[in-house]
Amino acid sequence: MMSSRVCVTPSTPAAPLAEAVALIRQLTVEGHLPAGGAQRRVAEITEELATTGSYSQTQQELLVGSRIAWRNNPQCIGKFYWKALEIRDCRAIGTGADGGDEGAVFEALVEHLRQAWNGGKVRLLLSVFAPSTPDRPGPRLWNGQLIRYAGYRQYDGSVIGDPETAALTEAVQCLGWRGQGGEFDVLPLVIQWPGREPRWFDLPADAVPEVRISHPEYRWFEELGLRWHAFPTISNQVLELGGLRYPLAPFSAWYTCTEIGARNLSDTSRYDKLPEVARRMGLDTARDRTLWRDRALLELTAGVLHSYDRAGISIIDHHFATKQFVRHEEREQKSGRDCPADWSAIVPATSGSTTPVWQRRYDATRVLPNFSPHPPSCPAQGAEGLPS
Ligand code: ARG
Repeated sequence: MMSSRVCVTPSTPAAPLAEAVALIRQLTVEGHLPAGGAQRRVAEITEELATTGSYSQTQQELLVGSRIAWRNNPQCIGKFYWKALEIRDCRAIGTGADGGDEGAVFEALVEHLRQAWNGGKVRLLLSVFAPSTPDRPGPRLWNGQLIRYAGYRQYDGSVIGDPETAALTEAVQCLGWRGQGGEFDVLPLVIQWPGREPRWFDLPADAVPEVRISHPEYRWFEELGLRWHAFPTISNQVLELGGLRYPLAPFSAWYTCTEIGARNLSDTSRYDKLPEVARRMGLDTARDRTLWRDRALLELTAGVLHSYDRAGISIIDHHFATKQFVRHEEREQKSGRDCPADWSAIVPATSGSTTPVWQRRYDATRVLPNFSPHPPSCPAQGAEGLPS
């Protein structure tokens, strides 16, 4: 039996004051805080930390600090736009009620989706919920993204839907959720305040924009019944900022076409659609040497790009994305800063060698502030050491 009360939250940092001082210094040096104000602000934070064990960041610290956290993240190819990140301050949401109000957090998450969607012109949007304090960890979400499809494991071990979420799907079923058993069923959000039972909420359909995948030339493509959600919203990263940890800070941005076409719908450990696409293209899938995978991968990605464009939804192609990334690197260099990057995350999943990042080398140095992956908060996601 698993306990549904499990909720792993990141511990508060070892040296919050040192981190806070470093943040204030950095914001001041970069010109985001008035030059004369740093000493007074550090004194204030020191005092607040000493008496409460935590402190409250100003809007400006939160806004620019989050932008810098994005800039520091080594996994993201879209950092060219770091200054355009918008923030919703949700720090007070759901904190008032007895131990935490899951419904209030849910409403705010739905509102996040609506604002990020923006009629198809997807916004770079981060919502920051309550930080963890020594006496009270912040809220968590079990979901890795706000919109994701269920993965139903079958008796023979196969999965209908997205295998990536098979464990989460099982966990929400244990909480009483029942899906339709389809390939693209949107999962409910599972919200948990520490020490409380998790609660799940189905997303309203109008907060979940999706795209049916067609193809610019192959008329049959639509018959495959493929679809994807309009934009990603990462919800399993902790925002580490100035000595505080925000365990719920969902981040929306637009997609790069390869993420959907060359990974989500095609990885053998995900939707594994290449054999079907190749067969419909009339390719011989019996031999690797026909390059059926490569050709199907390319057409699937072309279909994704075409479909998002046709629906008027922001999406970027990997050629433009990598060019922007190199421009970002150059800008950072001019500003006297390093550009932490993980080569394997920056090089696109198709046509890597045709993009300008292929020849370059990067250091994935970890610096704060940053966004870091959480240990899974959902009990069935196989986190070791959790009570069973
Ligand atoms: N690769 C993830 C997905 O396919 C999304 C990661 C973030 N991507 C982004 N374009 N911001 O859903």
